[in-house]
Amino acid sequence: MKKIVITGTAGLLGPYVVKHFLEQGYDVLSVDKVKPAETLTRHMTADLTNLGECYGILEGAYAVIHLAAIPTAYIFPNEVTFQNNVMATYNILEAAAGLGITKAVIASSECTYGICNSRQGLTPVYVPVDEEHPVLPEDSYGLGKIVGETIADAINRRCGMQIVSFRIGNIISKEKYLNFPGFIHDSEKRKQLMWNYIDARDIAVACRLAIEKDGLGSIIMNLAADDNSMDIKSCDLMKAEYPNVTDIRTPIDEYQTLYSNEKAKKVLGWKPVHCWRDNVSQE
Ligand SMILES: NC(=O)c1ccc[n+]([C@@H]2O[C@H](COP(=O)([O-])OP(=O)(O)OC[C@H]3O[C@@H](n4cnc5c(N)ncnc54)[C@H](O)[C@@H]3O)[C@@H](O)[C@H]2O)c1
Repeated sequence: MKKIVITGTAGLLGPYVVKHFLEQGYDVLSVDKVKPAETLTRHMTADLTNLGECYGILEGAYAVIHLAAIPTAYIFPNEVTFQNNVMATYNILEAAAGLGITKAVIASSECTYGICNSRQGLTPVYVPVDEEHPVLPEDSYGLGKIVGETIADAINRRCGMQIVSFRIGNIISKEKYLNFPGFIHDSEKRKQLMWNYIDARDIAVACRLAIEKDGLGSIIMNLAADDNSMDIKSCDLMKAEYPNVTDIRTPIDEYQTLYSNEKAKKVLGWKPVHCWRDNVSQE
C-alpha cells in the first residue's frame, strides 16, 4: 500500500483529501501543527517551518500532498504569512527531494493573479483567467504562493520530482453551501474571486489524479468548478463589475466559470462534479 503524507489536515480542505485517499486504498499519514478535530487516520503533529520535522514526517512516503498554510492575506502580519508559507513549502520539497520522493502536490492559489486581495482594484487582463494570465499580487500571501511554485520548479530541475501546483479557487466545504443564498444575487459580492468556487471533494480527486499520473514535471493548474457561484450570468457579472474588460476569450453567455479550469481537465482527465446549484435553494 502506497504511503501518502498529507499536510494541513486540521484545516478546511485537508480532511476531504485524507478521506478520499483512504477510500481509494492509500496508507495516509495526516500532518498538521494542530490535531484535527476528527481522527481519520494516524496523525503526526509537526511545524513544517522546521526542516528536520519535514524529514521526520516524510520518511517512507511515496508522495506528499502539501496543503498546510496560512490560507489568506492580512489575517497575520505580512511577513508572518510569507515566512510560514514559503518556508513550509521549501522545507517539504527540500526534505522530499532529500528522501528520494518522486511526486508532490502543493496548494497554490487563485491569489497568485493578484485580483483577489488587491486594494488597488486590480482587474483581470482577460477572462476566463487561465494559467497564462499575469500574476500581480500586492499581498504577501499571493506572493508567497508564487514563490512556492518557483521552489517547485527548482526542485524539479534539481532531481526531476513531479510537482503539481494547484492554483485552487475559493474552497467550498459541504457546510459552506449554506452561505450561498446570502450572496448569489449580488454581483459585487465575490467580485475579487471572479465569482469562482470549487468543492473540496473535487479538489481531493484532482490531488489523487495528480499523484497517479506520470511525466508532468513541474506544472501549474487552476482548479475551479465549471460554473460561477452566482445566480447571475457570467456576461452580466462582467458588465456590472468589470465593464472595461473587453478581452473575453470563451463564451460567457451562461454561468460559465470566469476562472479557467480547462488545463486541469485536459492534463489530468479531471472533471469537477459538485455544483452549488444542486446543493442550494435559489429562491
Ligand atoms: N480556503 C480557500 O478558499 C483557499 C483558496 C485557495 C488556496 N487555498 C490553499 O489551500 C490550502 C488549504 O486551505 P484551507 O482553507 O484548508 O486552510 P486552513 O487554514 O483551513 O488549513 C490549513 C492548515 O495548515 C496548518 N498549518 C499552517 N501552517 C503550518 C505549519 N507551519 N506547520 C504545520 N501545519 C501548518 C494549519 O494548522 C491548518 O490546519 C492552503 O495552502 C491554502 O493556502 C485555500
